[in-house]
Amino acid sequence: MSEGLVTVSYIASTILFILSLGGLSNPETSRRGNYYGIAGMAIAVLATVLGPKVTSVVPVIIAMLIGGSIGLTAAKRVQMTQMPELVALMHSLVGLAAVLIGFASYLDSSVHFTGVEKTIHEVEIYIGILIGAVTFSGSVIAFGKLSGKISGKPLLLPGRHMINLVGLLAVIWFCNLFLNVESGGAGMLFLIVMTAIALAFGVHMVMAIGGADMPVVVSMLNSYSGWAASATGFMLSNDLLIVTGALVGSSGAILSYIMCRAMNRNFFSVIAGGFGTSGGTVVATDGQPQGEVQPISAEETAELMRNASRIIIVPGYGMAVAQAQHTVFEITKTLRDRGIDVHFAIHPVAGRMPGHMNVLLAEAKVPYDIVAEMEEINEDFPETDLAMVIGANDIVNPAAQEDPNSPIAGMPVLEVWKAKTSIVMKRSMASGYAGVDNPLFYKENNRMLFGDAKKMLDEVLTALRAG
Ligand code: TAP
Repeated sequence: MSEGLVTVSYIASTILFILSLGGLSNPETSRRGNYYGIAGMAIAVLATVLGPKVTSVVPVIIAMLIGGSIGLTAAKRVQMTQMPELVALMHSLVGLAAVLIGFASYLDSSVHFTGVEKTIHEVEIYIGILIGAVTFSGSVIAFGKLSGKISGKPLLLPGRHMINLVGLLAVIWFCNLFLNVESGGAGMLFLIVMTAIALAFGVHMVMAIGGADMPVVVSMLNSYSGWAASATGFMLSNDLLIVTGALVGSSGAILSYIMCRAMNRNFFSVIAGGFGTSGGTVVATDGQPQGEVQPISAEETAELMRNASRIIIVPGYGMAVAQAQHTVFEITKTLRDRGIDVHFAIHPVAGRMPGHMNVLLAEAKVPYDIVAEMEEINEDFPETDLAMVIGANDIVNPAAQEDPNSPIAGMPVLEVWKAKTSIVMKRSMASGYAGVDNPLFYKENNRMLFGDAKKMLDEVLTALRAG
């Protein structure tokens, strides 16, 4: 394939990637967005492999077959709820690739730059390895925390900001030394020392983050992985990699910003790392009930539903665990057939990944027009007869508004307690992801429907249909 055709293919891929991002921003167009992305990536890979820079296709195809089979198996096996872990692991690979390509570029004896070009090339290598190493080790720790292999509690070393600052100064200092050496040997030593510092920084940054803030970290590492890929593009003089990396980097940063707003975190302290710990440490309660709760049965729940004229359903992580979305759809259909107004309220960080609830509801064929974002629907709760919370906890916790000392103080939440009655469906009094007690459970207008969400909803559906 000629250089010109490769360039045309790269432009086509770039357009498809932009269309893909546009499509993914809305549940209704997300499927189309995915197809654009797949097409763009297929063109990009073909144009690269068949392009003039690849002199031997066989090793590339072997590597692609190995990598593709691992990716396919992992994607098929992964549970929806484990998706953030898989994403974190994938980001670590992007970071590792940037580090390896950086070292390979430095060792590549066929490249001979002099003067300013040499400096620019070495800066590209230095920055690429730096971002790649932070992304790699940070993502591995994020994977460990999300999968429960490492404690979710934030690790707060004394003087941690000072440690980060010293690390940053050392990285700048070594960059200066690296750019001023002639021999490859000494330059390599500086690169290795900087890589070690960057790896330690990635570990330290993510270890300092509390469990409740992990979603923002995953999205932030997504952004870092994009910038690492972009830096790799500079090293390899590959325009498509530069643009694609920048798209991933900036969209990841925008997503982090949206999530920060949803969790009331400061975007800039997230970028600097070590956030979400100043307002108090995320600790699990001792499990002791903080008041009296009023249990309700499935039949009584069905009765309340039948008598309501407006219902808002709030799905959360528990609905995903129980795979109750199809029963939720059946209940919604039954209620709407009876002329009851049913809407869904989606919190931006409900579940364990951005868009988690939207994906499950779309899979169950819940119509998009009755699914509303938090900002759209929060003011409707006072006019709602019944707020039905299905396996959600932190996202409906009034302590975020009522208790300034709560670890989740300031996080915007769905104000279900303002409905005439709220019902929380969960298996026990256990806390949610953030490990904090939920005063909603003890409110006078709240009822607790204890049990697995799928099992209880099946019972509610049977009772609804019988009534
Ligand atoms: P959580 O606060 O984690 O609460 C989920 C609740 O579901 C738990 O209290 C659990 O109580 C219940 N549950 C679990 N399995 C169940 C089942 N089979 N049937 C019925 N209930 C079940 O979830 P949320 O309200 O969706 O809030 C999300 C939390 O995750 C936030 O703290 C957020 O910051 C964090 N987070 C979000 C993301 C993204 S991007 N969405 C990523 C990582 C973390 P029982 O054990 O008593 O049943």
